[in-house]
Amino acid sequence: MIKLHDLYFKPFISEQEVDDIVQRMVDEIAIDLQDEVPVFVGILNGSFMFVSDFVKKYPKPCEVTFIKLASYEGLKSTEDIHRLIGLTQDLSGRKVIILEDIIDSGNTLEEVHRIFENEGVDELKIATLFYKPEAYKKDYKLHYIGKEIPNKFIVGYGLDYNGLGRDLPEIYQLKTTQHMTNLVLFGPPGAGKGTQANFLKETYNLVHISTGDVFRYNIKNETALGMLAKSYMDKGELVPDQVTIDMLSAEVEKNAGANGFIFDGFPRTNAQAKALDNLMENKDSQINAMIALEVDDEVLVERLLERGKTSGRKDDADESIIRNRITEYYNKTAILKEYYATQNKYYGVDGVGSISDITERLKVVINTL
Ligand code: IMP
Ligand code: MG
Repeated sequence: MIKLHDLYFKPFISEQEVDDIVQRMVDEIAIDLQDEVPVFVGILNGSFMFVSDFVKKYPKPCEVTFIKLASYEGLKSTEDIHRLIGLTQDLSGRKVIILEDIIDSGNTLEEVHRIFENEGVDELKIATLFYKPEAYKKDYKLHYIGKEIPNKFIVGYGLDYNGLGRDLPEIYQLKTTQHMTNLVLFGPPGAGKGTQANFLKETYNLVHISTGDVFRYNIKNETALGMLAKSYMDKGELVPDQVTIDMLSAEVEKNAGANGFIFDGFPRTNAQAKALDNLMENKDSQINAMIALEVDDEVLVERLLERGKTSGRKDDADESIIRNRITEYYNKTAILKEYYATQNKYYGVDGVGSISDITERLKVVINTL
């Protein structure tokens, strides 16, 4: 992922793929032109890299020239095309191939046709490296198309966002979800997860998604997913991961403008961790870190017994039940620690000390993400 000005872009088309596309266009055009010596006309600025690579690959003699037009402002095409450098040579009777980096609305192409209207060229053909069919509003024929792409803003290989990105050898696509900090919060019972999640959510303006709460909410409100989940629970069966993921997905969707999410209580298995990665990827985002609060067993036992005196929770009152819960936590989460550690996303944080000391330790980690 890269950042240009205020926006984030993700890798979209590799340098190798761009090269293959250019080669294919060269082959096609060279066959069509046979022994004709064409004039390739690049549309500046965006097409400079494409033209350069194209003519280097072109197997036969050719001429190259440029015209310079400007229409784009930031992320949007405008109707108002500026003719900055026009044609500087007589092209009458010549075979002209326009080399464009990208055709979007077609406004620029319209201006190109206007420029060539009275030039008396023998033939005018259009070759564009990229083409956004959903954005194209004109009827001009496009003779050679390198690759059709969705109607999303791209940069690289000559294309810019407000001046930046032209130098990149590959193509990046604008991320529809801008930068988020998404955390998976882990910790054995008694580690202080809930308390810390509340502080983090305030500090970083994150949305806390506790799987338990999401389940209870969906079942209580009898949503379609809630009823589906309940049908499994009533039969004493585990709710399939996909149902849980769909609930979380809806939750993420509901908070589309959030700075990020704290996932709590999910994932619990490798398969769920993968499913969560997919979910985030579909939202043009990712899990940035698994943060585990590390607390010594004896401290946990002490804390939970203390809590048990007032909480009224039966599972907080019995030491052997507490120890079982702790053991089970480590058995279950070891595999997830491994999953995130291999992606360099595992962060263990010392969970012993005052609440504010622990919050500070968590902030140190999050601020590095
Ligand atoms: P059109 O006039 O709307 O067809 O847009 C053509 C020109 O707009 C191109 O030559 C580019 O300079 C610019 N443009 C269109 N789409 C993009 C994009 O996704 N990224 C960067 N520039 C673009
Ligand atoms: Mg251009």
